[in-house]
Amino acid sequence: MACPNARNAGRIARGTMQVDRLYPAGYGPFMALYLVTGGAGFIGSNLVHALLARGERVRVLDDFSTGREVNLEGLGEKIDLHRADLRDLDAVRKAMLGVDYVLHQGALGSVPRSVADPLTTDRVNVLGTLHVLVAAREAKVKRVVAASSSSIYGDTPTLPKVETMMLSPRSPYAVSKAATEQYLKAFYLSYGLETVGLRYFNVFGPRQDPNGEYAAVIPRFVAATLAGEAVTIYGDGLQSRDFCFVDNVVEANLKACTAEGAAGQAFNIACGERTTLLEVLEQIAKALGKALPPPRLLPARAGDVKHSLADIDRARQVLGYSGAIKFAEGITRAISYYEDMARAARSAGR
Ligand SMILES: NC(=O)c1ccc[n+]([C@@H]2O[C@H](COP(=O)([O-])OP(=O)(O)OC[C@H]3O[C@@H](n4cnc5c(N)ncnc54)[C@H](O)[C@@H]3O)[C@@H](O)[C@H]2O)c1
Repeated sequence: MACPNARNAGRIARGTMQVDRLYPAGYGPFMALYLVTGGAGFIGSNLVHALLARGERVRVLDDFSTGREVNLEGLGEKIDLHRADLRDLDAVRKAMLGVDYVLHQGALGSVPRSVADPLTTDRVNVLGTLHVLVAAREAKVKRVVAASSSSIYGDTPTLPKVETMMLSPRSPYAVSKAATEQYLKAFYLSYGLETVGLRYFNVFGPRQDPNGEYAAVIPRFVAATLAGEAVTIYGDGLQSRDFCFVDNVVEANLKACTAEGAAGQAFNIACGERTTLLEVLEQIAKALGKALPPPRLLPARAGDVKHSLADIDRARQVLGYSGAIKFAEGITRAISYYEDMARAARSAGR
């Protein structure tokens, strides 16, 4: 797995580059350097922890707009942290120096956020991705793996969603992810920069923020249940999703860095099973041993799709992806994370 960056290694040997500026304490020039954009966020921080556990060198670029300090707590000098905005090309270029692989997770998520503010979603998600690609090409990185989204399939009734289907984005967020994928492909075809798009379906697990207007459904449900409050559901609760535990997404990213034949392609990343929101709620109540107040049902929100289910054969075949952690195991692990967080907050008097 050791992938020296020959150009920088040469500059270091000639004494024209300061090693300690490039590598966190304890790391040398002959291990692969991963840049995780959005590394303080939910998925990004899970990637950071997994990479460090494998002994890789990690740099993070994040502006902490939705990311959280707590996600990187205790990592200190083990990571090279760049507090920077993806919309700042010079900052992205600086963060790209000496990088072998980019795991581009930084973006503004949430369909409703994009409906409320399509311009900012576009600038961060589309221009930000373009900056990552321009800088990655200049820095001769080996491969850029970037987060896309199942939302790009839209509300077409055909299930499961297969990568060969026509895209039908219905929200500004979905358009920004479709554009992300198009740029990934264009940079591969135009410049030979190796790129891979990963179409995440609904991801959940430890470090996902349960708070705020745009929080995802599972952390919102768990937080409400732990507090003994009724959950709010937009729609009738029978809408379904292919919920994917975050460790599966980490597996996909790490395999996508080196899988042969993956460059220039996009892959569904999910579990290949569908659960309705009411079923999710039932499982959470069962796992916590609590009787829940009936959910508050509000009208469905603009841009939300009714059903979602992935075909994951392409990821299995080309990336060697397993998606081994199914919903039932994932939800148990996620709940115990939120219980630990709630206990820690209580003992800290918060
Ligand atoms: N969570 C899901 O279910 C899901 C599903 C499909 C796709 N995705 C995609 O996966 C990626 C990660 O999502 P997440 O759930 O971890 O979200 P998140 O909000 O927890 O993480 C996104 C990170 O990007 C950072 N960021 C945002 N704007 C930035 C900017 N201008 N400059 C630098 N950093 C910036 C945030 O601070 C945050 O740390 C995103 O690209 C998202 O669109 C997520």
